[in-house]
Amino acid sequence: MTDTTSANKAYFDKLAADYDSRFEKTIEQLVREIQRRKDLLGVDSAGDDDDSDDDDGPRTGRKQVKLLDYACGTGLISRALAQYTTQCTGIDISENMVAVYNTRAENQGLSEDEMRAYHGNLVDPADPAPAAFEGSRFRDFDVAGVGLGFHHLDDPEYAARQLVARLRPGGVFFVVDFLPHAPVGGQGHRHGHGHGHGHGHEQGAGQEHEAADAIKHHGFSEERVRAIFEAAGAGQCFMFMELGSGVVFHGTRGEGGEPMKRRVFLARGTKA
Ligand SMILES: C[S@@+](CC[C@H](N)C(=O)[O-])C[C@H]1O[C@@H](n2cnc3c(N)ncnc32)[C@H](O)[C@@H]1O
Repeated sequence: MTDTTSANKAYFDKLAADYDSRFEKTIEQLVREIQRRKDLLGVDSAGDDDDSDDDDGPRTGRKQVKLLDYACGTGLISRALAQYTTQCTGIDISENMVAVYNTRAENQGLSEDEMRAYHGNLVDPADPAPAAFEGSRFRDFDVAGVGLGFHHLDDPEYAARQLVARLRPGGVFFVVDFLPHAPVGGQGHRHGHGHGHGHGHEQGAGQEHEAADAIKHHGFSEERVRAIFEAAGAGQCFMFMELGSGVVFHGTRGEGGEPMKRRVFLARGTKA
């Protein structure tokens, strides 16, 4: 496990119990923004057997739509897309985030087949084909993506290739993450590698340094994301858009003590 991966595991294991309550409003905003763009993710065409689009769980008895929610955390992306899919599979490096994801799914009355997260790492070059993820559940996804996790990964280019490899041909790859941003004043540059930035997950000086080690990238430009998608084989019909006009991370102080705001993008591309 790399230093970044260990730092992520430690940081998010500690944050897991509070993540949903701390970022409740932010999560609600992102869920709405993502749901408004479900057609771009290719999940709007799932067969329909009734009019109940307002339930929270995956569809059953309809055209199969398999979602891979990588770096799933507590399940923001899965919950946003559950009603348009038949099976949500989350994977995350933090056991505690996985546990929260699964508790929430169980509390919604969803079966393991409908929505389940698994602890693990699909983007470790030292273990490119993890045995735990060989089964059919973990292959031939219709849609696969990473929500707010790309900036935590050592090598997003490699990660994209690994995840796109799990898509069926014609499947959709997507990333939701931050546009480039400057480090926030007062948040330290730890060990000189300059990752200490206010971020949306960390709150208060005590957690800044822990968060800093878990962060690898200060956002992504459209050019870089397009190149990542193309190199991974998901460059067809590439689209890149900003979600709203900034997403406020309530409960996290930015400069001047105001709630921190970040520009968030959604990128999507189709696997050839
Ligand atoms: C900011 S959270 C986002 C969680 C969720 N996707 C959301 O949008 O709320 C980032 C997540 O990435 C996970 N993560 C970091 N590095 C990872 C890796 N190499 N493999 C899998 N998950 C990872 C963390 O454990 C954490 O749950």
